[in-house]
Amino acid sequence: MNKLLGILCAGACTFGFAAMASSTEVNPQTCQQVIENSCTKCHGIKRICTTLDKADADWSAIVADMGRRGKLSQEVQDQALSCLTSADVTVKGTICPQK
Ligand code: HEC
Repeated sequence: MNKLLGILCAGACTFGFAAMASSTEVNPQTCQQVIENSCTKCHGIKRICTTLDKADADWSAIVADMGRRGKLSQEVQDQALSCLTSADVTVKGTICPQK
């Protein structure tokens, strides 16, 4: 079993770690706070959660658009983007707990 995980991990984890290393650290609780504080002023979390289901959603474009609308700092935008595109399922699960 461990061996199997190791093989699966060689592909999936390398990708995951590479994605994490290149962006701001992603922590489920921090993500939940950032999204809640910065992204639910104009619309509910539902709007984000329905889009989160779309694997091909262009989050970099969406976050840049929302950042302009809400005058969000670059730092907040970067963080939100890392959270929304995180390969870690617990991040999505924490942002959208009703699922
Ligand atoms: C200043 C107000 C405001 C803020 C802040 C804001 N949004 Fe939005 N958001 C909107 C409006 C208005 C729309 C509808 C735009 C439209 O339909 O063209 C929208 C639509 C969306 C959509 C649907 C877009 C689509 O293409 O289907 C998503 C996803 C979204 N917002 C995510 C976010 C995220 C993530 C954040 C935080 C980084 C955020 N929003 C912050 C105003 C805001």
